[in-house]
Amino acid sequence: MSDSRQAGDLGRIEQVHARRVWDSRGRPTVEAEVTVATGRAPGRVVGRAIVPAGASKGRREALELRDGGGPFGGLDVQRAVGHVNGEIARALAGMPAGDQAAIDARLIELDGTPNKQRLGANATLAASMAAAQAAAAAAGRPLYEHLAHGIGGPGEVPRLPPLLPLPQIQIFGGGAHAGRRVDIQDFMVMCPGAASFAQALEWTAEVYRHAGVLMRERGAAAGVADEGGWWPAFDSNEQALTALVQAIERAGFTPGEQVAIALDIAASDFGEHGRYRLGLDGRELTSDGLIELLLRWCERYPIASIEDPLAEDDLEAFARFTQAVGARVQVVGDDLLVSDAALVRAAAGRGAANTVLLKPNQRGTLTETWQCWQAARAAGYAGIVSARSGETEDTTIVDLAIGWGVGQLKVGSFARSERMAKWNAALRIEQRLGAASRFAGASVLGRNPPAQ
Ligand code: PGA
Ligand code: ZN
Repeated sequence: MSDSRQAGDLGRIEQVHARRVWDSRGRPTVEAEVTVATGRAPGRVVGRAIVPAGASKGRREALELRDGGGPFGGLDVQRAVGHVNGEIARALAGMPAGDQAAIDARLIELDGTPNKQRLGANATLAASMAAAQAAAAAAGRPLYEHLAHGIGGPGEVPRLPPLLPLPQIQIFGGGAHAGRRVDIQDFMVMCPGAASFAQALEWTAEVYRHAGVLMRERGAAAGVADEGGWWPAFDSNEQALTALVQAIERAGFTPGEQVAIALDIAASDFGEHGRYRLGLDGRELTSDGLIELLLRWCERYPIASIEDPLAEDDLEAFARFTQAVGARVQVVGDDLLVSDAALVRAAAGRGAANTVLLKPNQRGTLTETWQCWQAARAAGYAGIVSARSGETEDTTIVDLAIGWGVGQLKVGSFARSERMAKWNAALRIEQRLGAASRFAGASVLGRNPPAQ
């Protein structure tokens, strides 16, 4: 098929159907299937997608609609499923499958609220992602290739060459994903020294394995947290950092050069109004106290990336921290930016963060996620496509990371199939691309130009 083929040529949406399925925490979530009548053999194709769910959410995320009431702790999604099978199915029927921008605009208009609170971002995103999957199937292309046009469909923007992401992989879990056993949420590694995505996974597998041995030696049970990282049995937050460096060294790598540390502080979970309570360390810190602590960690440990170092309501402190380390450390906004283009522009104006975390369910459509990535690029930010702590076998985000050339991917640890499904999906794409595959490596890390 030629790239100039019009979006309408991929066929029209015939049916949209949703059902309740279950995520990696055993909680209900929404799966949607979009059927497209292609008008040529094989006649019909189906695209399917499942939405994830966060636990440490930003306050300005789009709303995930839950039923409330008794069953499943109030977390059922029958209302969201009903919205897909009713209003959304009727609204999308007959639309050109290849016009993702129009499909998402219809979803946004139909919901009619700024944060998807009427239909639920879980309803709209399930439909949005399933439509993209169906369009790719109708085009006879893998999704990452279909998305290489951005969002508008064939012919609208120049093709982007696929880019295999530098992965951020959790070794120890913490925060809201581990019963707050440690305050810091993610102790991760990145492999800036690896030559390919496959090699980054090989190196991480060794670090993860050695970290497990280390925990057993310390007498800690070898259980895992929500995203598959080792359950954190530490006496202080800093001890987790020491253990991580030890695991990197035992695995035979040079800390910092070959394998570096990435942290998600998720500070909104233990602080607001400029006060931060580190439960494990038994201290309360001001914004500047927390900044000081993190700067000390950046000096002592080979840290290449820090996410949400301060709370989402602490923009000025976020900016001060970025000014202090942004030239050598990637400073990532997750709860701060919630994948929102306008918030990225506002934060960039204040010099807060230099990298955006992209989670499609923080907004509720692929188009808005794409627009956020475009705003981030315009502001000189780097990007990381990210999963949620409640995940499934769905691998749509892997195609977003590769097709949009975002450069980095974070989907949790190196265990549990809802995580491994995504690493394995990217491996398959790297192998399929063969000589044409490009690996992001360290070049994609967000850093501000040093001050003159
Ligand atoms: P969440 O955590 O999916 O529970 O929000 C992931 C993150 O904070 O990056
Ligand atoms: Zn985060």
